[in-house]
Amino acid sequence: MEKIKVYIEKEKIDEKISELAKKIDNDYKSSGDLVVICILKGAVYFYCDLTKKIKRNITEDFMKVSSYVGKESTGFININVDLGVDIENKDVLIVEDIIDTGLTLTRLKDYLNSKNPNSVKIAVLLDKKCKRTQNIDPDYCCFEIEDKFVVGYGLDYDEKYRNLPYIGYI
Ligand code: IMP
Repeated sequence: MEKIKVYIEKEKIDEKISELAKKIDNDYKSSGDLVVICILKGAVYFYCDLTKKIKRNITEDFMKVSSYVGKESTGFININVDLGVDIENKDVLIVEDIIDTGLTLTRLKDYLNSKNPNSVKIAVLLDKKCKRTQNIDPDYCCFEIEDKFVVGYGLDYDEKYRNLPYIGYI
């Protein structure tokens, strides 16, 4: 059993998510349909807390993509659960737990753009900017973090620790 140290406390996460929801409401106030997509499984806790705080109407959907085995990226993504709604001419907001190399979100954004949406933006809980290999940045981010393998608040290590109420590191 790994020893987990607290990295970002729950209160700090709640505060940042509230700020982010206000910003999203403001940025999309004159937009039409907004489809907010949760990327399973890691983004679930962030997504639920964020969408409950967004006041405008949204359409919700879930996708599952995979690129990691243990702590290592495999360098490509598989779409395990695909979109269930039509995003053509709609604004799309991808909600993801963490951006690391940027490979997952680059591939996913390309895929979603091929469906002719009006726009595709990205919201992440965490950004490991120092690890980026792709030319991509999130439009919304709660915390920029250093190069640590983090768990909790949805993030896992081999499917464990997702239910920690804070973000920790091993
Ligand atoms: P990227 O494709 O390298 O940007 O990696 C993004 C995906 O890697 C995320 O959706 C996570 O599933 C996983 N990931 C990257 N870093 C961590 C971490 O520190 N803890 C848990 N999962 C991570």
